[in-house]
Amino acid sequence: MSDEQAVKPGRNQERGVAIWLTGLSGAGKTTISIPLVEKLRTMGYCVQRLDGDVVRKKLTRDLGFSKKDRDKNIERVTFVAELLVNHGVVTVCAFISPYQAERQYARSEIGRFVEVFVKCPLEVCEERDVKGLYAQARRGEILNFTGIDDPYEEPENAEITVDTSEMTLESEVDAIILYLRENGYIM
Ligand code: ADX
Repeated sequence: MSDEQAVKPGRNQERGVAIWLTGLSGAGKTTISIPLVEKLRTMGYCVQRLDGDVVRKKLTRDLGFSKKDRDKNIERVTFVAELLVNHGVVTVCAFISPYQAERQYARSEIGRFVEVFVKCPLEVCEERDVKGLYAQARRGEILNFTGIDDPYEEPENAEITVDTSEMTLESEVDAIILYLRENGYIM
């Protein structure tokens, strides 16, 4: 292989891809995204994380949790993710994204899109209740809370499903990396 053809670390020779983590609050989307990003960076990829809790403080802080606002949230994030992916960035998106139609929208806009269903029974998410939001939702202090008084439409065509109530964090990250490798998204 000539010098020009050799893969140079840190230069995205491949095209980008969106890794779209969907699941209930507390299912483990953020928890998975952090070591996933670390691992991809170590492999030399240019990676960006887009996380609901962060994005909602900046890009979409004007939005709430009605269906209309959640749809807008995902549409704006999709726009950003599409730009990043088109510039060769591996973009890890962690959003509840409860509606099948909006996830389908993101998929069709972005194109190179790997949907990961971060599956976890509601009871387990509620027991974890890392942010104390489920307790607040049960007391009626937060309305339209996903899984309590707002829907979550489970993915029907996710490329990967990881059940965080049964798997270890390491095996979840490995399953995603393996899929990306086997399907030519990364080398
Ligand atoms: S999404 O439905 O529009 O995709 P997103 O992932 O951006 O949601 O934000 C979800 C985060 O907002 C949750 O992890 C939680 O911390 C917080 N949150 C606050 N209110 C709600 C609510 N009513 N339903 C779900 N999450 C909420």
